[in-house]
Amino acid sequence: MNQRRRRIYEGKAKILYEGPEPGTVIVHFKDDATAFNAEKKAVIEGKGVLNNRISEFIFERLNDLGLPTHFMKRLNMREQLVREVEIIPLEVIVRNIAAGSMAKRLGIEEGTALPRSIIEFCYKNDELGDPLIAEEHITAFGWASPQEIDDIMAMTIRINDFMSGMFAAIGIKLVDFKIEFGRQYEGDLVRTVLADEISPDSCRLWDVKTNEKLDKDRFRRDLGGLVEAYQEVARRLGILNENDPAKPAKPTLVKS
Ligand code: TMP
Repeated sequence: MNQRRRRIYEGKAKILYEGPEPGTVIVHFKDDATAFNAEKKAVIEGKGVLNNRISEFIFERLNDLGLPTHFMKRLNMREQLVREVEIIPLEVIVRNIAAGSMAKRLGIEEGTALPRSIIEFCYKNDELGDPLIAEEHITAFGWASPQEIDDIMAMTIRINDFMSGMFAAIGIKLVDFKIEFGRQYEGDLVRTVLADEISPDSCRLWDVKTNEKLDKDRFRRDLGGLVEAYQEVARRLGILNENDPAKPAKPTLVKS
């Protein structure tokens, strides 16, 4: 994957390149970590590789469930092939347990179980710091159509149900997460598909027994041990062997 190729876009944690076929895109996962709208930055070696693997694992399972996603296949340690979509400018947040900005905004103690899962929308706009919005804003400003909002809500509920169960089975509480959707154009048809990534960068994941944080809050809150936490998530998902630390290891001589 070292041939010259056109860079389409560079974000905070990923780079998009033109894919090998029309309508495809290559997503490259960087090691860059940012928080608080990139006020805080670091390079955390191994993060991109882990997010690529974890996101692949989750998107493949969602594809298997018949949930439409942009994901096609992983190409290498840091890259995956996806279908080209037009990103709907919304950050869709699902919360099962109060934490982060919601705990602060509403004065709820972090860790309090919510009476039911809550879906929030933010307007995806870095200059504005991704402000929280209501459905009214989305339709009034035409960021998504009522049909798209219905599709997004239905898919989001299914994704939360699936992921909550998947993580519960490996002793992890899915506290909250953020997802994004895109429009996939097929001739005259447009369909709403899950896009972007699902990884410990975009979820809050707490160990069931100890409440230890296994997500990007380790970086946001200066707790350290981010790569170890992401490795633990990957290990419990069964996508990491003890001798495959998903870190760019030095080449070693293998005797045959
Ligand atoms: P919040 O509590 O800070 O609003 O975050 C809610 C969830 O969304 C949490 O799982 C982290 C994720 N998230 C992102 O993926 N990107 C972001 O820019 C922010 C602010 C949160």
